[in-house]
Amino acid sequence: MKGVILAGGTGTRMLPLTKVTNKHLLPIYNKPMIYYPLECLANAGIEEVLLVTGGNNSGDFIRLLGNGREFGFKNLNYTYQEGAGGIAQALALAEHFADGQSICLILGDNIVEYSIRDSCRRFRHQGQGAKILLAQVENPKAYGVAELDGDRVARIVEKPAQPKSNWAVIGIYFYDAKVFDIVRTLKPSARNELEITDVNNAYIHRGEMTADRIVGWWADAGENIDFYLKACVTVSQSGANKEPPAAP
Ligand code: G1P
Repeated sequence: MKGVILAGGTGTRMLPLTKVTNKHLLPIYNKPMIYYPLECLANAGIEEVLLVTGGNNSGDFIRLLGNGREFGFKNLNYTYQEGAGGIAQALALAEHFADGQSICLILGDNIVEYSIRDSCRRFRHQGQGAKILLAQVENPKAYGVAELDGDRVARIVEKPAQPKSNWAVIGIYFYDAKVFDIVRTLKPSARNELEITDVNNAYIHRGEMTADRIVGWWADAGENIDFYLKACVTVSQSGANKEPPAAP
């Protein structure tokens, strides 16, 4: 399985911090934000990674991360997203890199308390389709929200006015190689983006989606300045990408 990290965007919700740098280069406690998703993938045993970036400061990622050996990757690849057309549009840039393999996609501002290694292993075992990770949140209206039917995800609604659950779809996703065909069928949403939620609903429709509920906290560190501050404090107190607690 290969890894894809999205670190583009204009960071408008974090201005003026993002006026002269990319949001994913801002510090979270003692490291740049982008280190956390990179460590998350490395920790899950993924060895080949593509970083999708954009904007004026994309060259800074190479200066910071180089060839990725520091994280234990065989290779760290880079590509450039023009404009901000949504998560699914950025994902489309990874088709050549994926080269028919499954991928783990992670948003560059998402940080998790515990390793995703077990979910990665379960997805490998699943063999095809997709897997999403769910976290319980206090403010589901800000996210893609899962409508659950027992353990099955019946539907995902992007930023619902009246959420049917408080289970948010976090920004870590597993997909088989069909994902690129699915992206080609998407139409831009009301916010003029190709939505990852539409990709996920296509897999649900095919009966090929599974979901894991994560243990521990999840931070969407780049959502706004308050989330950013909270992520800094949480990471400083408990660390990230740790070994999960042993099952009872
Ligand atoms: C995106 C996705 C949303 C998901 C969230 C996780 O939201 O569209 O479904 O719950 O990431 O961070 P955005 O950051 O584009 O508002």
